[in-house]
Amino acid sequence: MKQQRLFLSPPHMSGREQTYIAEAFESNYIAPLGPMVERFEQSIRDLTSTPHALALSSATAALHLALRVLGVGTGDIVLTSSFTFIGGIAPILYQNATPVFIDSDSVSWNLDPSLLEKAIIESPLKPKALILAHLYGQCADLEKIIALCAHYDIPIIEDAAESLGATYKNQQTGTFGTFGVYSFNGNKILTTSGGGMLISKNKALIDKARFYSTQARDDAPHYEHTDYGYNYRMSNILAAIGVAQMEVLQERITARRQIFEWYREVLDDIGEITFMPELSHSKGNRWLTTLTFEHSDPTRIRLALEEENIESRPLWKPMHMQPLFQEALCFQNGTSKSLFEKGLCLPSGTQMTRNDVDRVCSILKKGLR
Ligand SMILES: Cc1ncc(COP(=O)(O)O)c(C=O)c1O
Repeated sequence: MKQQRLFLSPPHMSGREQTYIAEAFESNYIAPLGPMVERFEQSIRDLTSTPHALALSSATAALHLALRVLGVGTGDIVLTSSFTFIGGIAPILYQNATPVFIDSDSVSWNLDPSLLEKAIIESPLKPKALILAHLYGQCADLEKIIALCAHYDIPIIEDAAESLGATYKNQQTGTFGTFGVYSFNGNKILTTSGGGMLISKNKALIDKARFYSTQARDDAPHYEHTDYGYNYRMSNILAAIGVAQMEVLQERITARRQIFEWYREVLDDIGEITFMPELSHSKGNRWLTTLTFEHSDPTRIRLALEEENIESRPLWKPMHMQPLFQEALCFQNGTSKSLFEKGLCLPSGTQMTRNDVDRVCSILKKGLR
């Protein structure tokens, strides 16, 4: 008989979700607004010490609103990490703008600051924005990237979809840019089943995003429109799940970091394995434990794990290697291609035990060359 399936990152409820959902039902706010939405937003404001937060249907929607509010439109250039998930990129296309991709560096696996400067200088037009991802919950090289964007006057949208709770110099990821974005998709460190959050220090920007997120309704008793928007707000029921999840964020980060340490204890002496690094002065949430193999074939290892009912996944396929972006401009150094070819994400759900980690490692070791 097969052992129980180990998923990559399954939802982990705190136990309080049903209580808050019941409260939401009692209030009859079965709608994309209500007290739970406000509480959920407040919990993000508290975590991030950021005055304005907007709960939305997804991080993809949050990124789309950020671009729209910044005035990104047809033909504009948006710089962005190549090594990321399509949800961080598709909103550029929604705005008929053009993504220009930037490769990763080997010290953060995130956007390479030296290539960023090259991209800014050589870009055919002045870039309208940078979307900066903190992948797998680990921080990008924020100090250098912020200095460059400040120098060239380019607003940053931090795609912190995967990095809720991660800090750089004791400051939360998502709070460095003009906008920050978090995801509460089913596989994230906290989940509302689906959802996102947009934050900013700037009230006018969040007010504008709220306006667009609720069908751009002008102030009138009837429906009056001078512009068009979207239906992007978060349901009060899902926000109730978010309120309960936020209460256990620090526990979840501790658990993810512990799982990473267990993997490192068991696998670190295997010379050909490199784990995703953590920049000094930063503390990631280790959403997923990710690694690369110098000699062994990650596909072989993934299939060996699958055979034993264990889910693992290749690292993100860089955007500049996607058929969709064949024609796109990319400033590359080969890092993200190599990460994709050599890497694997291991099961990292916060209900995993030391025994589960040992089970993964023993099969992984058998698959090594
Ligand atoms: C880096 C990154 N950006 C954006 C997204 C999109 O988030 P959502 O699924 O909430 O739209 C995700 C994940 O889903 C992600 O991992």
